[in-house]
Amino acid sequence: MAEILIIYSTTDGHTLEICRRLQAVIEQQAHRVTLVPVDDAADVDLESYDKIIIGASIRYGKHNRMVYAFIKRNEHILDSKPNAFFSVNVVARKPEKNQPETNPYLRKFLRQISWQPRQLAVFAGKIDYQRYNFRDRQIIRFIMWMTKGPTDPEAVVDFTNWDQVENFGRLVSKI
Ligand SMILES: Cc1cc2nc3c(=O)[nH]c(=O)nc-3n(C[C@H](O)[C@H](O)[C@H](O)COP(=O)(O)O)c2cc1C
Repeated sequence: MAEILIIYSTTDGHTLEICRRLQAVIEQQAHRVTLVPVDDAADVDLESYDKIIIGASIRYGKHNRMVYAFIKRNEHILDSKPNAFFSVNVVARKPEKNQPETNPYLRKFLRQISWQPRQLAVFAGKIDYQRYNFRDRQIIRFIMWMTKGPTDPEAVVDFTNWDQVENFGRLVSKI
């Protein structure tokens, strides 16, 4: 049995939902998973885990800067264990942008950090306009209009391919 740590960054909870699904799948493989928000990650004893996974969503083109800081501070220990990184964004709803090799946010992120995660994934995120404040709702609706996505201000659309999430959970159980 491996002790697996998942550190996540979320704003509206969708990345956490993905983490919970990963946890369920990984625990079915008889491992144990601990979920920790990146804000609390400094207090965690990373050495006590066998594998470390980091997951973060995109907001206005960027992953949370705390994710960069965590990686920079802990690159050595991340490298010393099996590890993985996944990004959550709505651009990944497009088939031509839903792979680690083709998702522009993940590509840019990897250019910005020196850590090279051993496993990578990209998951399409969720749109839930009523959760957003007025400004964010209008901006995201405009972006969706430009990119042929949903614009109904009441829309709740989960673009995540949950089979893909579960496959990633099985993959990281094995690494
Ligand atoms: C204010 C805001 C800005 C966003 N900016 C982007 C973006 O620049 N590119 C993108 O692909 N998705 C963007 N998204 C979509 C989020 O990545 C998606 O909703 C994801 O599921 C959010 O995950 P979280 O709830 O874990 O933060 C944005 C969403 C919001 C609400």
